[in-house]
Amino acid sequence: MKAVILAAGKATRLRPVTLTMPKALVPVANKTLIGYAFDVLKRAGLTDIGIVVNDLDSPIPQTLGDGAGLGIRLEYILQEEQKGLAHAVGLCRDFIGDDPFCVFLGDNIFQDQMDALFADFLSSGAESAIALGEVGDPSRFGIAELNGDGTIARVVEKPKEPKSNLAIAGVYLFRASIFDAISRITPSWRNELEITDAIQTIITDGKPVQSYILKGWWIDAGKPDAIILANQLVLEELPYTPAPENKDQIVGTSEVSHRVILGKNSQIINSVVRGPVIIGDNTIVQNSYVGPYTSLGDNVRIEGSEIEASIVMKNCVIRNIPGRIDSSLLADNAQVTIAERMPSTHRFILAENSYVQL
Ligand code: G1P
Repeated sequence: MKAVILAAGKATRLRPVTLTMPKALVPVANKTLIGYAFDVLKRAGLTDIGIVVNDLDSPIPQTLGDGAGLGIRLEYILQEEQKGLAHAVGLCRDFIGDDPFCVFLGDNIFQDQMDALFADFLSSGAESAIALGEVGDPSRFGIAELNGDGTIARVVEKPKEPKSNLAIAGVYLFRASIFDAISRITPSWRNELEITDAIQTIITDGKPVQSYILKGWWIDAGKPDAIILANQLVLEELPYTPAPENKDQIVGTSEVSHRVILGKNSQIINSVVRGPVIIGDNTIVQNSYVGPYTSLGDNVRIEGSEIEASIVMKNCVIRNIPGRIDSSLLADNAQVTIAERMPSTHRFILAENSYVQL
């Protein structure tokens, strides 16, 4: 089976981070979001992967290349206009051919590795199989209603009056019949060709669509809060590792707990770090506190400051900030420092859609 990962969205809800960095490359626990999709697919034996992008020269192909370094084979499929998920899948017809395949939404991240979903599909008579997750706010998602035997009776995209709380969770298995179904749907109220409508077409044709109920958490990581939560959930799963004690890296009066992953050439100097925390390479934490659920990228400087439950990407500087920084997301090269001279004013140079809370 091949797989396609849909990563062509404009990610407007994650600006300004996504003005320069596609959502697929946003790091969660210092690994790209799309890296988690690769993990699920590789584990299921799917290593021929097409990624739908909105620009063939974007940082996604530039960063991931042909996938050789990741143990997968990557091809890129261009979706120039964002006309919906079904439109994106339709563009993959040549890449897929006639075999069954997986569609994975590139901004979804799962605790469940979905082994049974992948293992059972080919031998089942189902035309499609869809991962579903329970949600508290069903009108934000595609929603499925089930028959008693676990097949799907009906799917509706963002229903105003949802009849179930089982949301379509961004992993779909299809046979080539989905392409015919896509050719028969029309744009929705949001002017998109909805994959949900194509699935409903298969159901209306009388073909069985199987459900797979996800175990554990699932995050549609489209907004800063969701990315920060995903970071917390992934770090929560870090296995126990003893406190690092290497004197080259843990310096002075530092106290570093267990479940702290420290990259090469990084140093904790006169600081407290309480895991779970992941720290990249060449990062220095000095006279600071780094609390649980924090990911620091490569080449970061944290000095005279306190931070927790946050994502700090590479080359950032946080220096002498009073009060604790919490639940924050700093993209590459961002700096938060105190004014070193009078008047001690606040000064901001912010990108579009930036967000400061003092
Ligand atoms: C899309 C799908 C929806 C699904 C959701 C999962 O919604 O249309 O059916 O439940 O992804 O993340 P969108 O993110 O386009 O609003």
